[in-house]
Parts: sequence; C-alpha cells; structure tokens
Amino acid sequence: MDAKPYARLDDVSLFYGDKVVLKNCTLDIVEGAITCVIGLSGAGKSTILRLLDALRKPDEGHVYIGDRDICHTPETELIEVRRKIALSFQFAALLDSLTIGENVGLPLRENTQQPEAEIRQIVEDALDSVGLAHTYDNLPSELSGGMLKRAGFARAIVTKPDLVLYDEPTTGLDPIVTHLITDMIVRLRKKLGGTAVVISHDLQSIFMMADYVAMLFEGAIIAYGTVEEIKRSPNPIVQQFLEGSEVGPIPI
Ligand SMILES: Nc1ncnc2c1ncn2[C@@H]1O[C@H](COP(=O)(O)OP(=O)(O)OP(=O)(O)O)[C@@H](O)[C@H]1O
Ligand SMILES: [Mg+2]
Repeated sequence: MDAKPYARLDDVSLFYGDKVVLKNCTLDIVEGAITCVIGLSGAGKSTILRLLDALRKPDEGHVYIGDRDICHTPETELIEVRRKIALSFQFAALLDSLTIGENVGLPLRENTQQPEAEIRQIVEDALDSVGLAHTYDNLPSELSGGMLKRAGFARAIVTKPDLVLYDEPTTGLDPIVTHLITDMIVRLRKKLGGTAVVISHDLQSIFMMADYVAMLFEGAIIAYGTVEEIKRSPNPIVQQFLEGSEVGPIPI
C-alpha cells in the first residue's frame, strides 16, 4: 500500500487484570481516509479509540501519531497531541444547562483566546455543516437524539482536528438519520481534509463510508482492506460476521 499512515498501533497488547483485550494488535490508520473498525461487542473497539486519543496506554507495544510514539511522550506534550484529535463518544454527552451553541463552542472557549464574535461564527458554521443551522439558542432537551448526536459532532470539529474518532455514531438512530449521519461523516472528513476512524456495527453505513475496513477479533486485526476486499475475504470469521450468521467459527 502506498498510502501513508496518520497513526499506527504497533504490536499492541492491552489487559484489564487477567482479561486480554488486545494481543499483538497492529493497525495502520491511513492519512486522509476513513477507517472503519468492526468486531463483536466487547472486542476492544472503543479501547482502540482510547489508545489513539492517548487516554490509555498499551501494556505492550507502541502507538504512533505521525512519527511520535505517544506511549513515551510526556503528559504536557500529550495535551498538544490531543488537541489535534477529536473523540466523539458513543453518547453525545452535552451539558443540559448550556445551549447547543454554548456546548459546541466549549472547546474553543476553554482552549483558545479567540474573541467571542469569532467563536460564534465558527460555531454557527459547524452547526450549519451538520445540518443544525438555527439551533444555537436551543437547549439540548429541545433536540431529538439524532440532532444531539450531530451537535456532538459539531463540538468535535470546531477545533479543526486532524483526526476524528467516532464511536458508534449511528447506533440507535432510524435508517434515514443513519444515512444522513453517514453522509455527514464523509463530508466532514473532506471538509477538514483530515483522517477519521469510525467504530460501527452498522454494515450498510460502513460500506457507504469506509475507505478501509479493519476487523478486530480475539485481540487482533484479522482482516483489513477496502470494502470490496473485506466483502471478498476468504476468512470464514469475516464472512460469518458480515452475514450475521450464528453458524460458523465465531464462538457464541
Ligand atoms: N475500565 C475497564 N475495566 C475493566 N475492563 C474493561 C474496562 N474497559 C473495558 N473493559 C473490557 O475490555 C473489553 C473491551 O471493551 P471495549 O469497550 O473496547 O469493547 P467494544 O468493542 O467497544 O464493545 P462494544 O461494541 O460493546 O462497544 C470488554 O470486555 C470490556 O469489558
Ligand atoms: Mg464500544
């Protein structure tokens, strides 16, 4: 592959007590692309996002962002690294007492000295790019679940991150909103000119947005490739997962 990685898990192992979550796991996150990670519930997908955001260190192996090994970077410098990365959580987690606009602008008010008028403009633009124009003064309780998710994305992108990490962006949403959000992730990636990693259980939306798909199983990436390559994978575990069949090598 000629594409350059923006980030890399290199031979990573990670344990919670006796439980092995990742074991000799290697994964390249190609720059300027959308990489989707699939796998069973509890496989360690969210853990991969925590590693990429330097919220968790591996027990063995290395995690690189660019050329920098973030496992051996002092905490003060990690703050700089994290500033270029946005993690959009499984749940939107907006503050109920702030308006949508105030919530979305929070990372800018907390981390920059930009004047209020500039922040307002960036927030309006971010809301507009997720289809939520005119919601600046609404409270979170006035928006639907799908709208809150999108407000969460707007908050993730106001700092213009190089890498956006999405944890289950479409879970629990109807097919139309799912389609809309999937489309939005592709558009935001292009707009930011950056890199994205998406964890999802929704195969249809993965097939729509992914440049690369990685399947995590029993602690390691067992299949990696373009959507077409994954669909044609000869690995029976991948095929069983894609078919959603209870018959096959995956222990249930
Ligand atoms: N703080 C923790 N302490 C102990 N075990 C943990 C902790 N966080 C995660 N785990 C365990 O690590 C494993 C991987 O968790 P992770 O959240 O990465 O899975 P996942 O693939 O994102 O699952 P899901 O699809 O259900 O979101 C799980 O078995 C989980 O129970
Ligand atoms: Mg998860």
